[in-house]
Amino acid sequence: MANQFFLTKSHEVLLEELRGENRLHRVLGPVQLSALGVGAIIGTGIFVLTGVAAHDRTGPALMLSFVVAGITCVFAALCYAEFASMVPVAGSAYTYAYATLGELFAWIIGWDLILEYAVASATVAHGWSHYFQDFLSIFHIGLPSVVTNAPFDYLPATGRLTLTGTWFDLPAIVIALLVTIVLVKGISESASLNAGIVILKIAIVLFVIVVGARYVNPANWHPFAPYGLTGFSFFGHTIMGQTGKGGEPLGMLAGAAYVFFAYIGFDSVSTHAEEARYPSRDVPFGILTSLVLCTILYIAVAAVLTGMIPYNQINIDAPVSDAFRQVGLPWAQFLISVGAIAGITSVLLVMMLSQPRIFLAMARDGLLPPGFFAAVHERFRTPWKSTILTGVCVATMGAFLPLRILAELVNIGTLLAFVIVCAAVLIMRRTHPNVPRPFRAPFGMIVPILGILCCLLLMFSLPAENWLRLFVWLAIGLVIYFAYGRRHSRLGNPATKLEAVPLTRK
Ligand code: ALA
Repeated sequence: MANQFFLTKSHEVLLEELRGENRLHRVLGPVQLSALGVGAIIGTGIFVLTGVAAHDRTGPALMLSFVVAGITCVFAALCYAEFASMVPVAGSAYTYAYATLGELFAWIIGWDLILEYAVASATVAHGWSHYFQDFLSIFHIGLPSVVTNAPFDYLPATGRLTLTGTWFDLPAIVIALLVTIVLVKGISESASLNAGIVILKIAIVLFVIVVGARYVNPANWHPFAPYGLTGFSFFGHTIMGQTGKGGEPLGMLAGAAYVFFAYIGFDSVSTHAEEARYPSRDVPFGILTSLVLCTILYIAVAAVLTGMIPYNQINIDAPVSDAFRQVGLPWAQFLISVGAIAGITSVLLVMMLSQPRIFLAMARDGLLPPGFFAAVHERFRTPWKSTILTGVCVATMGAFLPLRILAELVNIGTLLAFVIVCAAVLIMRRTHPNVPRPFRAPFGMIVPILGILCCLLLMFSLPAENWLRLFVWLAIGLVIYFAYGRRHSRLGNPATKLEAVPLTRK
């Protein structure tokens, strides 16, 4: 049975599957794919997490944090792009791992991707709730305080959990369920809705940069790095930089590990590879275009935000809109809140669209029950059961778990997924040197190796308890694999017949 762990799906099998009848329709071009990328990227990270990052971990050096996190993502994105051009099927990193590292690793990464998509969605729903409440406050409307936040929070300064006095986050539940309804109804609607929102959100971000730049006071950029330029620890032991009261690393690198969340989403373009018209050309284009565009915008927003007001006065709930209120532009607060709400909604749409597609790929391989995870709604032709499951989990986590814990868990899980994808590119180049690679990450092995090193650096720049959470999460996944996936795997048990899994765009 041990051999089953290392069974890989051959490149030929993957391409053969692509030619099958029951595949997704190829309707997405380069612009739509890039829009899906931007739709998934710009959201809670830039509109919400920048507040905590600048205030508690970096000061104005937040600009450099975005540079470091952006460069890390570019290395990973080049590896994703190489894989996506080689194996343009749904499933993203999960499929890449199945083709190179074997079934056990594929399972681990598929399970890990739940952190990236479903848990990230819960984080994003929280961010949505912050801006929604900020928006209501403009009209002096307040929700009952018991339904405005998760019931507890984690305070890095004390290293303890603390009660917030609230019951749950109602707006987070409402938005998660609304997005679920849209996604169950059909992804063609959601793709066009996404395109509209993406335009609005880029316009708002440009507005923040252009108008905000006029209110920048360069004195606010001094001191530039009040917490230092590093922030790196090894399982709780600080190696470089300052340490917070709860033992967490502080500084520019620690900030990069936190705002890394803002970049998550470019890889979701690869989950749509199967729906791309010319996947080997357009998916790498979509991944890289969306990432580079957002990197430039983020660095500019970080510079403007920390230049507008002193870093220690930046609001940690709705930092961008609040900065405009503080400089005396309340009308801008209105515009930015609307843009942030719309923008964060589009992140939720893409993230919650991607999660059921990962489940679908795993169910096709027999690692999850296909009757549930590959079930297609008769009328809407969408994977409705797994979409609803995703929606309920997102709503529950968004309602009861604190933003900080969710965001850091997502970051460490996603960084691990990136490490595995970079490693898989190296392995694939050795084991399958002659497979056509319409896109190849440049500079030989340098890009994947730097990708692995940068991701590990950021993983160790997160507070140590995240490693424990990651291990617990992966352990739960392994229990499920041994209880179900290993016994039902299509590759490990060739006699297993799966039902056909038709899924088409409306
Ligand atoms: N990058 C996405 C966001 O910031 C997940 O909301």
